[in-house]
Amino acid sequence: MFFTLKTKIWLTILSIVLMFTFFTLIYFPTQQGNYLLKNYTNEVQNLANTVALGVQIALEDQNYKAAQTAMEYVKGNPGLKFVSLVQEDTAWNNTHTKPSVTETVFKTYPDIAKPILVQPAENDSIIVKRAPFTSKLMSGNIVLGFTTKEIEQSKKSIRTTSLIVSTFIFLVGLFIGLLLSRKISRPVIALRDAARKVGEGDLTQCVQVHSTDEIGDLSSAFNKMVHDLSKTRNELHNSNRSLSETNAALNNTLNELKAMQNQLIQSEKMASLGELTAGIAHEIQNPLNFVNNFSEVSIELAEELKEELQTSNLSVNVIDIINDLVQNQQKINYHGKRADSIVKGMLQHSRKSTGQKELTDINQLADEYLRLSYHGLRAKDKTFNATLKTSFDESLQKVNIVPQDIGRVLLNLYTNAFHSVMKKKRELNGDYEPIVVVKTSCTNNTIELCVRDNGNGIPAENINKIFQPFFTTKPAGEGTGLGLSLSYDIITKGHGGSITVDSREGEYAAFIINLPA
Ligand SMILES: Nc1ncnc2c1ncn2[C@@H]1O[C@H](COP(=O)(O)OP(=O)(O)O)[C@@H](O)[C@H]1O
Ligand SMILES: [Mg+2]
Repeated sequence: MFFTLKTKIWLTILSIVLMFTFFTLIYFPTQQGNYLLKNYTNEVQNLANTVALGVQIALEDQNYKAAQTAMEYVKGNPGLKFVSLVQEDTAWNNTHTKPSVTETVFKTYPDIAKPILVQPAENDSIIVKRAPFTSKLMSGNIVLGFTTKEIEQSKKSIRTTSLIVSTFIFLVGLFIGLLLSRKISRPVIALRDAARKVGEGDLTQCVQVHSTDEIGDLSSAFNKMVHDLSKTRNELHNSNRSLSETNAALNNTLNELKAMQNQLIQSEKMASLGELTAGIAHEIQNPLNFVNNFSEVSIELAEELKEELQTSNLSVNVIDIINDLVQNQQKINYHGKRADSIVKGMLQHSRKSTGQKELTDINQLADEYLRLSYHGLRAKDKTFNATLKTSFDESLQKVNIVPQDIGRVLLNLYTNAFHSVMKKKRELNGDYEPIVVVKTSCTNNTIELCVRDNGNGIPAENINKIFQPFFTTKPAGEGTGLGLSLSYDIITKGHGGSITVDSREGEYAAFIINLPA
């Protein structure tokens, strides 16, 4: 069964009040009445005994006057109804076989005609007690009748007092009940309602604190809790806001970083283009020299031929000259084509990668880019020299690759290798021969390309970082830290291959590319 707190308080108080009322209204007056009656009865009996003793002594002396005085001893008692002297006589039946006791009222006070001799008994209105006496003159009983009016009055007044006390207790109970429900149930109900609202998300709730007792403490604690909650919620709100602001800022930074990364990738491309241009210039120089030389020789030959024809002195020479001329034109054509292919290569590199795979001769590509990057570097630093060693597996079939992309990877690996050996040479400044080796080989279904240099190698603590974007040990402006990271992406994502590094610090570094054949 569900009882509210208020009901419980009222029930408790009501049961306490009822218990008190039962004691004060029923139990206590009954007990008191019985006690009074018992005392009164004893008192009457004592009086009867006293009178009987006085009468007995007086009759022994045959002094009737004294006997009367003894009886009148109780006369002044306000409760006295009557006092009688009853004489007992023994009477025999006719055959004188069976005695019987007859009683005769000898004297009664107050002097009513013939008081009814009642047996000593107690009823509501009268108490009758008898006390025996014997003397030579007569034997009998002193019978005392006392009214219980006084006791009834006492009982009545006790009951009245009890009623007043009960009413008072009832009123006090009512008052305590009201007070308790005011003091306990009201704040508790207020707390409950406020807590419900807080649960629904309303953190403006505040209950009034009326007392300094536990409920007051509870109310204060509740208010503090709600206050703290609201504070925390605000803080959370603020931190959420600042978080989303930070998020937005981070997003911005990320976008900026992406833009910057693109720029850097572009600048890495430009840097490698720079390397290339120098190499290409060097490379073109060579066929151009041939073209120039052969064309000069051809001009001379043509002049010679003209002279021969003018003199009409046709000799076998003409055929020789024409043969030479043809040869020259072929060489010019050959070197012209070489220059053309170099320029095409340069254009190809500078163009955005088409991503188109073509069957490519890896050996040729590796060789071409090796020379380009070497001469590119030498164009910048004339003092630099290195031994280039190639070991190409001639059995290598053409592979399907994006030549611009793989070219870029090779260019980066070569440039790194040359940088490393150049640095070591500068540091050692003596008996050191820089060597860069390029090697290709083919093992079942994979083509391996290895670029190895005998430079400073890579320290163990850096070996795990070199493929990370922007990791560089080179001075700003010289390294972007993107070469290997781009190479890694081109080889793994673009071509499904792998690129690994092997190095011993101070001795060598080798980059091994594996491509599916
Ligand atoms: N052959 C090599 N020998 C020694 N260190 C190398 C070699 N190749 C790459 N590294 C190291 O790896 C780093 C990253 O190379 P890379 O990604 O090409 O960026 P960058 O050349 O711009 O520094 C270089 O700065 C260098 O420390
Ligand atoms: Mg590099």
